[in-house]
Amino acid sequence: MGSKRGVDSKGEVGSKRHGLNRNGVLLNGNGKAKRQKAEITVTRPRLRARQRVGKYRLEGLLGSGGFSYVYRAMDTIEGVRVALKIPHDALVNDDVLHDFRNEVRITARLDHPNILPLKDASIIDGHFVLTYPLGEKSLTDRMQKRMSIVTAMDYAEQMLEALAYAHAHRIVHCDVKPDNVILFKDHRVRLGDFGIAKVAQKTLKGRGTGTIGHMAPEQAMGKPTMRSDVFSMGLIIYRMFTGQWPEWPYEWPYPGHQRLRGKVHPEMIRFLQRATMVSQRKRYRDGEQMLEAFLRARRATERYRARRL
Ligand SMILES: Nc1ncnc2c1ncn2[C@@H]1O[C@H](COP(=O)(O)OP(=O)(O)O)[C@@H](O)[C@H]1O
Ligand SMILES: [Mg+2]
Repeated sequence: MGSKRGVDSKGEVGSKRHGLNRNGVLLNGNGKAKRQKAEITVTRPRLRARQRVGKYRLEGLLGSGGFSYVYRAMDTIEGVRVALKIPHDALVNDDVLHDFRNEVRITARLDHPNILPLKDASIIDGHFVLTYPLGEKSLTDRMQKRMSIVTAMDYAEQMLEALAYAHAHRIVHCDVKPDNVILFKDHRVRLGDFGIAKVAQKTLKGRGTGTIGHMAPEQAMGKPTMRSDVFSMGLIIYRMFTGQWPEWPYEWPYPGHQRLRGKVHPEMIRFLQRATMVSQRKRYRDGEQMLEAFLRARRATERYRARRL
């Protein structure tokens, strides 16, 4: 699943190269041991391949974010493969449980074909377990390969449908980035990981939010809004179109800008510029407004490309 991690010789699921063994000794790339300070305790998952967690049989590690491991697993009752998100054992504390409950409560309220649906949330043998349908890969994995404009527009539209829907339900995602976009069969794209999402109020106070490099400037200052999600989504779409990430201080034109000319209609270029303005007032207000502008730019681009063929 695009992950470099696998199952090592002891049958343990996890990163051998950079994991810690049971004694808290870091294994470097050659498998040589290096002593670490005591505060860096276990960072490898305790769960092993083929281990059972309730009705689930673990098969491998798909990925891990800041707080959790995501495993591929078989639901032995339903007979389908799923993705299980389980917080890192060593890190289960009030903050992590807060984020997990937050993810459950927000995701459970959302019902949209482009949002990763929660199948189940429960506590099994002392593990907090979130169950999601299993996707093929993340958008990060997909971005390792070239992407055509047609595919980029297809993915962008689906991600924007998800964002527009979440915003219409007053949910601010706060962590829009390619790791949190999961691809399924038949080019279905689903936005996931509502772990730090928030219910919108007038101003949102940040709490351990976002990921540097994907975050709008004002969100880095601790004030995420729907306009911050618009910014992060703009960065992803720009990256899909050009193969390059705009970077701080986000001065237009961004690197790779020349590649857009001749490939997309100027309206699409204006769309990208407006979505990623440093001044949030100049951006689209929310996902709904951004989606509308995108659809116009997409139609213009399709006409433009048809004429050029
Ligand atoms: N349903 C899924 N199907 C396939 N891979 C997934 C799925 N959910 C998550 N992943 C992989 O696991 C990674 C971490 O999942 P995520 O929900 O973003 O957890 P975190 O909150 O720890 O960031 C993702 O970036 C993705 O690579
Ligand atoms: Mg994530």
